[in-house]
Amino acid sequence: MCGIVAYIGKREATPIVLDSLKRLEYRGYDSAGLTVEQEKRGPFVARVAGRVGKLEAKLVGATLPGTVAIAHTRWATHGAPSERNAHPHGDCRARIHLAHNGIIENHAALRATLIANGHRFSSDTDTEVIVHLVEERFRGTLEDAVEAALRELRGTWAIVVLSADDPGKIVAARNSSPLLLGVGSGEYLLASDASAVLASTKKVVYIEDGEMVTVTREGFRITNVDDAELRRRLVEIPWTLQEAEKGGHPHFMRKEISEGPEVVENVMRGRVRGGEVKLGGLETVSKRLDHVERIVLTAMGTSYHAALLGELFFEELAGIPAEVEYAAEFRYKRAPLATRNTALFAISQSGETADTLAALREAKRKGMLTIGIVNVVGSTVARETDAGLYNYAGPEIGVASTKAFLSQVVALLLAAIFLARGRAMGEREAQELLEALIRIPDAIRSLLKEENEIRALAKRFAHYENALFLGRKWSYPVALEGALKLKEVSYLHAEGYNAAEMKHGPIAMIDERFPTVAVVPDDSVRDKTLSNLEEIRARNGPIFAIATRGDRGVSSIADGVISIPRTHEILSPLLAVVPLQLLAYHIGIARGCDVDKPRNLAKSVTVE
Ligand code: M6R
Repeated sequence: MCGIVAYIGKREATPIVLDSLKRLEYRGYDSAGLTVEQEKRGPFVARVAGRVGKLEAKLVGATLPGTVAIAHTRWATHGAPSERNAHPHGDCRARIHLAHNGIIENHAALRATLIANGHRFSSDTDTEVIVHLVEERFRGTLEDAVEAALRELRGTWAIVVLSADDPGKIVAARNSSPLLLGVGSGEYLLASDASAVLASTKKVVYIEDGEMVTVTREGFRITNVDDAELRRRLVEIPWTLQEAEKGGHPHFMRKEISEGPEVVENVMRGRVRGGEVKLGGLETVSKRLDHVERIVLTAMGTSYHAALLGELFFEELAGIPAEVEYAAEFRYKRAPLATRNTALFAISQSGETADTLAALREAKRKGMLTIGIVNVVGSTVARETDAGLYNYAGPEIGVASTKAFLSQVVALLLAAIFLARGRAMGEREAQELLEALIRIPDAIRSLLKEENEIRALAKRFAHYENALFLGRKWSYPVALEGALKLKEVSYLHAEGYNAAEMKHGPIAMIDERFPTVAVVPDDSVRDKTLSNLEEIRARNGPIFAIATRGDRGVSSIADGVISIPRTHEILSPLLAVVPLQLLAYHIGIARGCDVDKPRNLAKSVTVE
C-alpha cells in the first residue's frame, strides 16, 4: 500500500515524479503529495486529498524548476484520507521532508517523547514521527540523521527523505516494504515498483530489508544497518513501458482480461515439451521435491483462490496431500506441521503481500522448502523463496486481479504435473492433459468474442444488490473468485459458496430478488450442481449459469447462460473464470464504478 517515488538528476523533477505517481496509484489513491527542492525558495510542498490527477491540477501554473523531488500516493492506515495526513510530511521547520510506505508500530510512544521534547505535529499519521526523529538527530548530514532515526523505529517502512539543510541528496531506506533504485544516465529514481521508473530507465537495484541508500547526482551508496557499504548488481527490468500501459482499451481491467490467451501461452512457453513439463525454476530443488510428502499452499485474495485449485491439482494429479492456508492465518497457527518433507508454495501476483511474506518467512524458519509462484520479477517473495516459477503474465495494473489468476492456475497445474512424475500420474494421462492445455488459449479467444452477450447479461444483472456464486469441486474456487471480482469492481454484495453448502444456510436468502451465478461445466459433479440449482429454481431465485456449450439441462433451468467450450474437466476453471471476469467488469461499468481503482482497495497490500 502507498506508492513512493523520488527523483534526482538534471531534469525538472515535478513532471517526472507526477508521471511515476500515476503508475503507482494502484497501490493506493486516497491522497497524494510531493515536495520539490528549490535552491533559493526552500522546499515546495503540495498535497491533496484525492487522486494524483487532483495534485496535478493543483500544480497547473506553478513554476517548479527543482531537479530533486519526493512524492507519494497514499492508502490510509493511520489517520483519515485528508490533505493534512497526505505525505510528504515535514519537520517542525519544514526543512526536512519524508514520504513513507508501511506502518510504524511504536509511533505512539515516539510521538509522546517527541512532543515532550518540543516537536509540533501536524498530522494524525504514524509516519510523522519519523521526520521529527530525523530532525532531532540531524547534525548536518542527512544520511547520518536517517540512520540514527531508523534505529528507534519498530515496524515496516520504505522511506524517501530530503533536507534543505543538506541539499542535492535523497536518502531512502527499506524494511519490509518494497523499494528499488532506478539508475539512469546522470539521474536516479527511487520507487515502490519498477513500473514507476520504466519511462526513465530499465536498470534497477532492488533495495533489501535493513538497507539504506544515499543518492546524489554523482552516484549512490548502499549501506546496511552496520553502515557497511554494499556492492549491488544492476538488474534489467523485463517489461516495456507499453506493456504497462492500456494499449487502446478503455480500462486496464479489460485489457488484462483480453490478454488471457497470451498469458496462458507465456506461462507454458518453454515449459511444456513433448508431453512433459520442464520447470527450470524447480530443477535446483528437484532432489528435495522428490521427497516431498506434503504441500501447504499459502496466499491471500485471488491468489488464495488459485491456491485452492492448486490443492486439487497436487492431490488429484500427484497424489500428494495438500492443504491451503490463508497466509494471514498460517503465521499465527500452531498447527503440528511435519516440516521435513513439506513444501510451502507461496502464491502472489505482486510478490509483496505482507501476509504472504510473513507466512513464507515463518515456513522458512520452520525449515520447510519454500517455492514461489510470483508474477513480479525480482519481488520480495521471488527473492526469498528457495525456488519458484514466474507467471510471466506481464504487469497487472488493474486492482482487480484477472490475468494473473489464469497464469497462477496454469503455473500450479504445471508444478503438479512436474511433481507427479514417477508418482500418481501416468505418461499418457499427462500427455492428454497437456494437449488439452495447449488448446486453452484458443478456447479463451473464442470466449472473448462472446463479450456482447456478456455485456447484455450484465445489463440485466446490474440492478440487483446481492448475488450468490455457486460451484463444486473445480468450480468452487471459480465461484469464490467470480464473487470476489464482482464485489470489488461493482460494490454489489456477492458471496461465493460451495453449491452443496448453499442448502445448509444461504438458501434462506433466495427469492426473486436474489440471483445466483452458477458455475456448472459438464464435469463429474455437473449433475449434483444441477440438483442444487433446482432447489434455487423452486424458490424463484433467478439463475445465470456458466455451462458447457450445448448443455440443454442447464439452459432449461437458467434465466441466462454463458457457454464455454468443452475441455478436460481439470482445465474448466481456466475457461469458466473469463466470462465471470467480464461479467464483473461490465456490471461495474453499468453501475458507474471505477473498475481499475475500486474504492478502499490497493493493488498491493503491504500491511498485515
Ligand atoms: O499480489 P498478491 O497476489 O499477493 O495479492 C493478493 C490479494 O491482495 C489480491 O489478489 C487481491 O485480492 C485482489 N484485489 C483481487 O482482485
